[in-house]
Parts: sequence; C-alpha cells; structure tokens
Amino acid sequence: MSQYNIKKYAVIGAGNMGSGIAQKIATEGHPCILVDLDDEKVERGMNIIKDLLAQGVERKVFRPQQVEKILANLHGTSDWSELADVDLVIEAVFENVDVKRSVFERLSKNCKETAILATNTSSFYVRDLVSAVSHPERLIGLHYFFHPAKNRLVEVIGHEGTSPEAYAAAWASQEAIGKTPIWSADAPGFVVNRYFVPWVNEGVRLLGEGVANLATIEWAAKKAFGVGMGPFELMNVTGVPISMHAANTLGETLGAFYAPGQALIDFCATGEKNWSLEGEVDESKYDVIADRMLGVTFYVASKLVDEGVASVEDIDIGARVGLRWPAGPFELLNQTGVERSRSLAEAAAATYDLEIPEILVKAENHGIPIELVSLSDVGDVEEVRFNRPAAMNALDKTMFIQFDGKLQLARATGKPFVLRGTGKAFVAGADIKFFVDSLNSDSYPAIAEFAGYGQKLFATLGGGEHATVSRLHGLALGGGAEMAISTDYIVASPNAVLGFPETSIGIFPGLGGTQRLPRRIGYPFAKYLLYTGQMLDARTALSIGLIDAVADFSELDATCYEWATKKSIVGREAPTSCSHEKMQAVWDFFEQYSVDEILSGEADCMGNPNLEKAVKRMSQKSYHALKLCEALFVEGAHLELDRALELESRDLATAFNHADALEGLSALLEGRRPNFQQPAFA
Ligand SMILES: NC(=O)c1ccc[n+]([C@@H]2O[C@H](COP(=O)([O-])OP(=O)(O)OC[C@H]3O[C@@H](n4cnc5c(N)ncnc54)[C@H](O)[C@@H]3O)[C@@H](O)[C@H]2O)c1
Repeated sequence: MSQYNIKKYAVIGAGNMGSGIAQKIATEGHPCILVDLDDEKVERGMNIIKDLLAQGVERKVFRPQQVEKILANLHGTSDWSELADVDLVIEAVFENVDVKRSVFERLSKNCKETAILATNTSSFYVRDLVSAVSHPERLIGLHYFFHPAKNRLVEVIGHEGTSPEAYAAAWASQEAIGKTPIWSADAPGFVVNRYFVPWVNEGVRLLGEGVANLATIEWAAKKAFGVGMGPFELMNVTGVPISMHAANTLGETLGAFYAPGQALIDFCATGEKNWSLEGEVDESKYDVIADRMLGVTFYVASKLVDEGVASVEDIDIGARVGLRWPAGPFELLNQTGVERSRSLAEAAAATYDLEIPEILVKAENHGIPIELVSLSDVGDVEEVRFNRPAAMNALDKTMFIQFDGKLQLARATGKPFVLRGTGKAFVAGADIKFFVDSLNSDSYPAIAEFAGYGQKLFATLGGGEHATVSRLHGLALGGGAEMAISTDYIVASPNAVLGFPETSIGIFPGLGGTQRLPRRIGYPFAKYLLYTGQMLDARTALSIGLIDAVADFSELDATCYEWATKKSIVGREAPTSCSHEKMQAVWDFFEQYSVDEILSGEADCMGNPNLEKAVKRMSQKSYHALKLCEALFVEGAHLELDRALELESRDLATAFNHADALEGLSALLEGRRPNFQQPAFA
C-alpha cells in the first residue's frame, strides 16, 4: 500500500483559482479545506464558490440538495493547524516565488510528512520550491486551467526528486476529482501555455506588423483552428495583463521568439482594459494569417516533444481538453500535411534564427504518429491506455487498428496487461456519428466490418496465457462495458459507472454483450441491464458480480496489478441464482417474465417501486431491439461462447437495418428523445 493515501484535500489561496479548485474537489465528493491569509479572505473565497453554485442551481446544473452536499465537504479557515491531517495540499497563492516559498515552509511545519504538497504555479519551475519543503520527494506541480471547476485539464509535473509513488498518488488524486491529467516535465510554461502563449502573441505580431486589422486576425484565427474565440477576445476574457505577463516570463527564459509583441506592450502602456474587436474583415488575408499562426503552433508543439517536455498525445489532449480546440496541434499538423507544416514551422523559426525540431525534420509524409492507444511498461505488467479523453475514448476504426497493434505488442512482452482510459471515461462506447453517417449513406457493410473487427479483438482479451484487467475509473458504457467484460477481471474506482444503453438507441450490444454479460452475472441480471439500460455504480456492480474489485484511487493501480498477476479465467459459467439479497426481486422478475409479458402489463411488479421503474424504462426503449436481445439470450444460452457470439454478427444487420436504429442513434446525436416504433399491444 502506498504511503500516500489521498482522502482529504486542502487548497491554499482562496482567489480565482484556489476557490475553483476547492469547489471541484468538493463537488466530486471529497472533503476540502480552503485556506487564506485571514478570515475575510477565506469568506470572500467561500462566497465565490457559493455564488457559482447558486448560478448552477438557477441553470439546473445542480439540485439544491447537491449544493448542500458540496458545501458540506468544504471548510474555510485561516488556521493552518487544521492542515495536520490533510493528504494533499494545493497551493494557489499569488504568483510570487517568495510568497510561495514561505507558504511551502509553513506547510512543511503544519502538514504530516506523507502529505503531498503541490503548487499551481504558472511561471516558476516546481524545482524552485524544493528548498522550502521538508521531504521534497512529495513536492509536485499541479497546473490547472481557468476555470478550474469546469476545465478538466491538469498538468502533473514532478521535479527531479519527486518520488514515483508521490507522482502516481498525485495523478490518481486528479482522476478522483474528475480531472484529465497529462504528464509534463518541469519546464517553462509546462505544456499548454508554451504553445498557447505564442499562438496569442502571433496574433499580436500580425497586428503590429500591419498584416491585417484586428477583426480580420480574430476571424482568420477562429477559422483556421475551429475555435470560438480568437487571440484578442481571449485576452479580453482572461485579462490582457495576464497575457503580457505570460509572454514576458516565457520570453525571459526562452528568448525573443516567445517575448511579447510590441503591439501588446504598447496596448498595456495605454492602460486600456479590452481590445476593441470591431472592424471590417478582409477575407483575402486568411491564408497569410492562418499560415503564420499554424507555423508558430507547429514549431512550438514539435519543440516540446524534442525537449522531452511532453508527448505528442498529451500535447493534443492539452489542446482539446484544456483549450477546447477541436483538433490538437499534431492532428492539425497531419491534416495540413507534413511537408507544408514543416515549411510553415520553418518560416516561424527562421524569423528568430531558430532550427526546426528534429521530430519535424524526420517526420514521414504520411504524418506524425499519434497514439490514440498507447502501451507502457509498468514493471511486471503492461498498460494499454486509451488516449482520446475529449471524445471519452469512444471506439472507432482508428482506435481499433491501434488497439490491435498494441495488443500484439503487449502479448509479445509475455506479461499480463491492464486496460485503462484517460480522462473522465474508461471507454464511453462506440463512435455514434460513424454509425449515423454510415446508415445515412447506406453503407451498413462499414458498420458490419467495424463490429466484426471489434468482436475479433475482444475475443482475444480474456482467457489467454496471462490475465487481463480492465481498470475502470469513470464511465464504461456500451462498447466500453463490453470491452471490460471481455477481459478476465474488472477493477473499478468507487466513482466508476457501467451500463449497456444500446436498446435506448435502437440496437443491441454487438461486441459480445448479449453473450458474455449473462455468463458473468446470470441471465436475469443481464436482461435487467440490457432491457432497462440501467447504469450501475461500482459497489452495486460488485455486489452482482459484474466487476471483481473496488479500490480507492490511491490503491487502484496496485489493485489492478495484483489482479493482473492472478491466473487468467478460461470461460465463465452463467450463475443460476441471485448473489445479492437486495436484488432478489429484480432477479426473480426478469427470470420469470418475457419482454412481451412485461411490456403488455401482464407481469406483476407486486408494488415494488424498483421493478415499476424498470418497466417504465423498458417502455421507453426500442421494442425491436428488446426483442432481438431476448432472442439472442434464448438462442445463445445453449451454445458454447464462440458459437453464441456468432449470433450477434448474424443479427447485427437486422438491428441496424431497422428504422429504430437510425432514429435512436440520430436522436442521441441531436439530444432529443427517440420516437421508436411501438409494439402492437401498446
Ligand atoms: N488565473 C489563472 O488563469 C491561472 C491559471 C493557472 C494557474 N494560475 C496560478 O494560480 C495561482 C493563483 O492565481 P489566482 O489567479 O487565483 O490569484 P488570486 O490573486 O485570485 O488569488 C490568490 C489568493 O492567494 C491568497 N494568498 C496570498 N498570499 C497568501 C498566503 N501567504 N497564504 C494564504 N493565502 C495567500 C490571496 O489572499 C488570494 O486570495 C498563481 O500561482 C497563478 O499563477 C492562475
């Protein structure tokens, strides 16, 4: 067991960032102390949180009872002795290194030795604070993004002496509070700001050089990157002085390329607050602006990889999750084409006499590989990781091809492996848009090919020479849940959620769900889950045998590795009795009644509200899909798993070629209720 077991959090500095970080921690259900210099400042920070939560209630993001719970997790104080039993402290005080050092000295005195101490600094190195910390192996950087209660991205930064255990615990703590962590070296600006600040600055330079007016630069930048705000509007929103400070800091450390453009310096000297965004757009200037901004982005993103500051994947995740760009720098680079991107980056670098990074020099014409699925060696175990958090790691053909490749590599190591997702989800299903596009263009064969590929891959996941484990730390839905039940074991964090929502969208689980699920938890429970789409939390999933273990975040990795070194499971026998007393009525009901009996009202719920709810949910599903599931259960029950799985492939066309499939899938994309065909008795 790790010495860092993070259950209680504290945030120092109740300003813009600190209050938001504390709010997020409390919202995710963890106790958090918010500390500032005096009670008045603490109260101001608490009021920022209360106001935001009240707005959330108005906008129906939160229910009043939820807000009460969140606030109950928070405690504001200026008494540092209350930090004695805290497990992770996040410092978010003024960006002044002396103030920060004094805070870390004070924390070293007030906190236990195994409390992880983190800084949210934007412009200093983490190592700048080492001398102020006792046991600096627990010092870490956790760099959040505004607004930290909403923006999921966090950069996790170790200094040279940070222990791997402290780093792993800090990382897990961020998953526990619903963040999407990325790895960063202890380098100037860390990952995202290093390319985002020059991106903004390039807009300023274009303006200063008179290439175009401000409105044109805004327009072109938005169009080229597919973003909602251009550099000037963004500066207005975050505060122009912050941009000036960020460019200055990077410029001082890294040289003229990063230093603020003269137009920004001049603007700050006027004392005005906001750039005026008014003006006529000159569309003829698009190419020159887009090329300059892309060139700068490609240059810096590549430089970050060359310097070992971040991986290609994390740089792209940073842009998608932290900046909400629809594509990361490397995706954009590949879309633009390597040759052209190289010359754009060369042009950006040449102005400041810089060399273009090796990764760009060596890039092959088909593009820089982006590992949507990656493989890493963690000792006795290999980890296969899904790296598409902005899309909740949804499965598509590219993911399958890469997954296939990594599975082969993982097997070649002769070690067990663990599957895990990055961000909020393990895997939240298949790519719905692909299904809808395929159906609309009459290309069902593309769907059949995709499902066939997935089935083939999933069939290799369990029962092999070495065990496989799914590490669930968030959502595992649809294809993601089917992937998990294909592995030998499932280990979940307390906030994991599993579900099979296919019948809500007019189809059935076609990646083994109709056959593996009943063999894992018994037919009655499998029917309950597939017919109602009911999501299960980790504890309930454990109680019915759907998963094998629940572990707190700080123990999640270790528990997965433990299960991975067990024997792999060859075949599962469907349980024939209910393993969980509280669920007996559900078991009996679904064991006894058919879909038609339930939906026609013949089945007796005996006044049980859970069953009544289940029936209501079923009535909202696609009847056609429910009947297909039922038939697959019945027919598959008497077959060996291999043969039973073939039934799914056989019936897939029947599901997808029915009107309910296009209706259900389209409704999901459009965010509306589906209008399914009703059974005759309805
Ligand atoms: N604002 C952003 O967008 C952003 C983004 C990422 C990181 N950061 C970093 O987060 C940190 C905080 O930034 P902010 O924008 O929240 O600043 P802020 O000025 O809004 O808040 C700072 C808070 O720290 C408190 N404080 C100052 N000295 C203290 C001390 N010795 N002990 C306890 N509290 C103290 C202040 O009273 C104030 O409430 C900075 O390091 C900043 O670089 C900011």
